[in-house]
Amino acid sequence: MEIIVKTDSHSASRLAARFVAALISKKPKAVIGLAAGSTPLQLYLELIHLHRAEGLDFSQVTTFNLDEYCGLSPNHPSSYHHFMWTHLFEHINVSRERVNIPDGLTKDVPRFCQRYEELIKESGGIDLQILGIGINGHIGFNEPSSSLNSKTRLTTLSPQTIEANARFFRGAEKIPRHAITMGIGTILNSRHCLLLAFGEEKAKAITGMVEGPVTASLPASALQHHPRVSVLLDEAAAAQLQHL
Ligand code: F6R
Repeated sequence: MEIIVKTDSHSASRLAARFVAALISKKPKAVIGLAAGSTPLQLYLELIHLHRAEGLDFSQVTTFNLDEYCGLSPNHPSSYHHFMWTHLFEHINVSRERVNIPDGLTKDVPRFCQRYEELIKESGGIDLQILGIGINGHIGFNEPSSSLNSKTRLTTLSPQTIEANARFFRGAEKIPRHAITMGIGTILNSRHCLLLAFGEEKAKAITGMVEGPVTASLPASALQHHPRVSVLLDEAAAAQLQHL
């Protein structure tokens, strides 16, 4: 793993945006995996800035989001569909038909998940996967004890994730208990993973991911098996690493 520590989340996000821009310049038809949540927000602002100021062109880019809550319609204010359109897609020239986000309302979850995997393959595979990390070490909604070879599927959110993400809902009782997520195996199939983590609450998970054993108890540790992972941290998230 390549570990890059920046003084703060702004400079780390600017660098992350440069990774994305370099990929798109080299490969205009790039396939990019995206995450929701608070971590990539500054990255998305940077990408919007690069689109407006430097003409970064998303018109041929295909995107696949990691996950979506079950039971939320795309226009629900807490859905990841709504999040992505509000914070990124509405402000860049991505083409609507090249945006892929799991359907939280699908009636046939297994079929949907299989199709999502096929769509990723048919697109040529994910060139760059943007990831955040949960305080319990999840990536996507692959909670502790997820199979390290898992593919896109239905998952049950852990009590820790429900507590952490309740801030996006009006109270923990409103947050869906299930989600559709790309699997760890799906994530490991991408050509390059770019994981961002900011703040001291992520420090323990980051240390486990980078320096701990590969274990289903800390799903992000599976990234140790990936040949190309860049980890972009602020100083607080890197604070407990022993081998920097
Ligand atoms: C979101 C996702 C999650 C988040 C993680 C961190 O699409 O896949 O794994 O990246 O829960 O969330 P934040 O960034 O809100 O701390």
